[in-house]
Amino acid sequence: MTNAFTDWLTQLPRQTLGHWPTPLVLLPRLSAELGGPRIWLKRDDCSGLATGGNKTRKLEYLLGAALAQGTDTIVTYGAVQSNHARQTAAACASVGLQCHLILSQRVDWPYPAYNSQGNVFLDSLLGAHVHQCEVADTEMTRTKLLAQLEDQGARVYEIPAGGSAPLGALGYANCVLELAQQTEQLGIQPKTVLHASASCGTQTGLVYASERLQCDWQVLGINVYHPDPATLVARITSLLEKIGETYPDQALAKIPDIHVNHAYMGSAYGQPTEAGLQAIRWVAGLEGVLFDPVYSGKALAALIDQIDLGNFSHTDDVILIHTGGVASLAAYVDAFK
Ligand SMILES: Cc1ncc(COP(=O)(O)O)c(C=O)c1O
Repeated sequence: MTNAFTDWLTQLPRQTLGHWPTPLVLLPRLSAELGGPRIWLKRDDCSGLATGGNKTRKLEYLLGAALAQGTDTIVTYGAVQSNHARQTAAACASVGLQCHLILSQRVDWPYPAYNSQGNVFLDSLLGAHVHQCEVADTEMTRTKLLAQLEDQGARVYEIPAGGSAPLGALGYANCVLELAQQTEQLGIQPKTVLHASASCGTQTGLVYASERLQCDWQVLGINVYHPDPATLVARITSLLEKIGETYPDQALAKIPDIHVNHAYMGSAYGQPTEAGLQAIRWVAGLEGVLFDPVYSGKALAALIDQIDLGNFSHTDDVILIHTGGVASLAAYVDAFK
């Protein structure tokens, strides 16, 4: 499928990092157990970059821009168990860029594995320079690091947390191009595309491209990060506006309704929920697919609950985007005890 929009999207500077398209697969056993809609899983956890995840799409455009500017060093941000940080470390390794990760202690999870296993272990293995700090010290750590890198003559490109710059969000638009093609080939018309939403780049890209391609589905973000879900809506709106300002001939005619569900976050970002842990255990044994307790497992629990509540009929098709995150399972081993 090509049109003026897809032509424009494909000509943006891009560094290929992933394995595309990611599969769209039916979860037959979970669908049967729930007796509800047919559940399709978009396997963005198989996107590549050191156990995969949703950041691969964003990083293709972000590193494309960075390399076009002659960058040799990437600096980015996240929580200690940031999947974005780990995927950025892998992306940098694969193209020979230096990678600095400023990881802040924003999650109150008291088990030692959190600070040494999972993503943070992989970050070091992938050759990234890891700078851990308290949340309040993030700006100071950044200023110091940037000054040091400048002294060393590094050509730095900064990527915001989650890769959720407008360009990163546009990377995620490619997921919709794949979904439009895959659903057409399968002859299905999904009612909803559901996923975990945090720094907003994923949902922005999905909403933006779904509007541009006039897809019939509703994009439903499951809030896993913001204490007030209105923040999520405001950020997605702002990112859509910035895309329109940067590329005026690609702007949406109007900002569409943004759909967010706040019922599945639990007490805070990074705190597992009982429903999330149960869903992870159940679906691991039922379908042989792993989810994580911070992001994709909460989206999975949301979908299961929405089906239990009767919000989908047995003739519906629904897509759950598996945004990755399984690298953090080792850091959360205590949650499963
Ligand atoms: C595994 C996983 N799923 C979902 C998300 C949410 O994506 P976004 O930050 O683009 O909203 C993230 C990133 O924060 C993630 O790491």
